[in-house]
Amino acid sequence: MTTTRGLRSKAGEEPITMLTAYDAPTAAVVDEAGIDVILVGDSMGNAVLGYDTTLPVTLEEVESRTGAVARAAEDALVVADMPFLSFGVDEAESIHNAGRMLKEANADAVKIESGPHTVDLTARLTDLGIPVMAHLGLTPQHVNRLGYGRQGTDREAAEEIVELAGAHADAGAFSLVLEHVPANLAGAVTEALEIPTIGIGAGPDCDGQVLVINDVLGLDDWSPPFSKQFGDVRAEMARAVGEYRDAVEAGEFPSEEHSHVEETLEDLY
Ligand code: KIV
Repeated sequence: MTTTRGLRSKAGEEPITMLTAYDAPTAAVVDEAGIDVILVGDSMGNAVLGYDTTLPVTLEEVESRTGAVARAAEDALVVADMPFLSFGVDEAESIHNAGRMLKEANADAVKIESGPHTVDLTARLTDLGIPVMAHLGLTPQHVNRLGYGRQGTDREAAEEIVELAGAHADAGAFSLVLEHVPANLAGAVTEALEIPTIGIGAGPDCDGQVLVINDVLGLDDWSPPFSKQFGDVRAEMARAVGEYRDAVEAGEFPSEEHSHVEETLEDLY
């Protein structure tokens, strides 16, 4: 079973693997493949709930899907992503909300899109026994301020990321996601920190990599330029659904093999 401590000792020895999942069957496949960490990302907003951004995702949606993933995952560390405004407004409420992910949904840890306002919260949650994965660089919950572009591209912005990364590590975060930042910045942060960095669009020098499962499987008709499609599941789904439609329309399904005739009912009519 992967633990936050195990993840820390893997860093620098072997690349850490992380993928998102939002339901039990997908989590089972990801877990059986030996992926270290399953993130129940608020990317579910775009990936499965049909929203344009992650902002409308609710605590209840993340909690329900985290429960499904945790029930299916036997070995992977399950991390629940704290949705927009479920943390950082009021400390007691943030603790209560993060605690729900562990107490009620059986997550192992939470992820928080980080900034200057989350350093103290990270320390408080960690002290209380709620492990925190920090997240810097492109933080989609700040889309209205930052957009979706690459972050940390000038010296001032890069230095702010290095500083915040150190502050969150000092506050007790067990790992840090770096999203859509220059590879050399991610390499420098990785070098400077003792906790593992997990990159997405952050080059090869992080301790691990994460992608959104839809992008890996080829489920959507768009994916970000930094992700890579490793399968064409959308095409396979379209083929299977089309074959089912054709079989029903042609009267070929259900056949005798998929039906049951009860002999005691033969004189019913
Ligand atoms: O919500 C999510 O899936 C994420 C990853 C892209 C890191 O935050």
